[in-house]
Amino acid sequence: MRRPSVLFACGFLLVLSLCRGVAAEVSAAEPESSVARDARMKWWREARFGMFVHWGLYSGLAGTWQGQVVGTSGGMEWIQERVKADTDRYARAALPLFKPKPDFAREWARLAREAGCSYVVFTTKHHDGFALHDSKVSEFDAGSQLQRDLVQEIVTALRAEGLRVGFYHSVIDWHHDQYGYRLSQQLPHPLKGTPYPNGSRQHGRYVEYLHAQVEELATRYGPIDVLWWDYSSQDFQGDEAWRATELMARVRKHHPGILMNNRLYRTPEAGWKSMGTDGFANMLDPRFGDFITPEQHIPDTGIPGIDWETCMTLNTTWGYSAHDQAWKSSETLIRNLVDIASKGGNYLLNIGPTGDGSVPQESVEALQSIGAWMKVNRQSIVATTASPVAKPAWGRITVQEAGKDTTLYLHVLEWPANGHIRLEGVTNVVRGVRRLAGGPVDAVSQNGGIRISCSGPAPDPVDSVIALQLAGPLFRNPAGGQTGK
Ligand code: GLC
Repeated sequence: MRRPSVLFACGFLLVLSLCRGVAAEVSAAEPESSVARDARMKWWREARFGMFVHWGLYSGLAGTWQGQVVGTSGGMEWIQERVKADTDRYARAALPLFKPKPDFAREWARLAREAGCSYVVFTTKHHDGFALHDSKVSEFDAGSQLQRDLVQEIVTALRAEGLRVGFYHSVIDWHHDQYGYRLSQQLPHPLKGTPYPNGSRQHGRYVEYLHAQVEELATRYGPIDVLWWDYSSQDFQGDEAWRATELMARVRKHHPGILMNNRLYRTPEAGWKSMGTDGFANMLDPRFGDFITPEQHIPDTGIPGIDWETCMTLNTTWGYSAHDQAWKSSETLIRNLVDIASKGGNYLLNIGPTGDGSVPQESVEALQSIGAWMKVNRQSIVATTASPVAKPAWGRITVQEAGKDTTLYLHVLEWPANGHIRLEGVTNVVRGVRRLAGGPVDAVSQNGGIRISCSGPAPDPVDSVIALQLAGPLFRNPAGGQTGK
């Protein structure tokens, strides 16, 4: 909600001087030690599973524009860009359809917790520029349009369920009248390829506004755990596009323990190889973010030594569409989670609530089935690390150090017809073995490996987990493989 312009001008000057202050602190900042970094990353590395929420004005449009279906697949949070509407036409159509019901966020939070997620990242502002909080520097926000602070409502609901809080924030902005969309050939904009309707633009003024809104988000809602930026291109990124170093320092100043992704940048040092969403590089300089973000894609062999999080949709769109029925099966989703954990990554799985904040029934059911599986098998995912042995033909492996011993969780995706599986190359003494879903099982060392009985029908057709407790740290025969697919 914007206040009178004198106040706005004062706010603007204040922000300007704060920016200078932050900039000065950045240059003096010491690099973080690896011990401090590990401590900061600990909860997130253990979490393994989070919920993503894409929700904003586009949600009410639901993939339809002026009575026409815009598409049956792809991101409908991009609908403004797909139909090439300027921000006024878009807002006129979308605002009346965005009607958050009371307590919508409690449903999201309960669903996330029951699914086994430890954190939720939600869109505070997407590319359309509509801010879900009550912003002093904009009228294109929930405060001005709905007299509500939806960010506050969501944060309160997440905290009530004991979930960590992540803010997605788009640095791309299709609303602001100074956003310099002609400065990039690669970033999307509904008016791309056309002259600025208002003559010339001063992108620096948009960047001031971006910093001011981020300052609001960073100072009003208590502790924030993740800032999930979106996104940059090879031809427009980092300090040039967003004063990124300073933006990150601004957030860290208020939240020293926060984690941020790498999307204020698009360079190899920041973990990017190309513009493709699977175009990640096997490196990440921590100055550019804490983790890399493969999108709709699980890296083949994980990314040893680098923190990563695969974000993924349940159908093919992030924002709600009434026309996208390509739902992934719960088998696929559970197996993705297991695959990602076995490679040392996190899974950020998206819901796209409707214009009133309701979660589509298909998404509720998908998350509930993951929750049912997690209820039995949670310990084989949370606080585990990547498999140090190559992917076996029968499934995946996750690992946990337990005192001096090591527990291997054997995720049997293909329950064997011959009544046993083998773990090749592992020669540790077996201390114990049990099925997480119950039922008899035994394990014996044999011919440079371990043979585990799997009698009867599969306890869980999606993934039956066997916990194998081994003496000491993992010792394996060199022929047994390495961190693998
Ligand atoms: C992309 C899309 C966006 C979505 C995001 C999620 O960058 O532009 O719509 O929010 O990825 O990863």
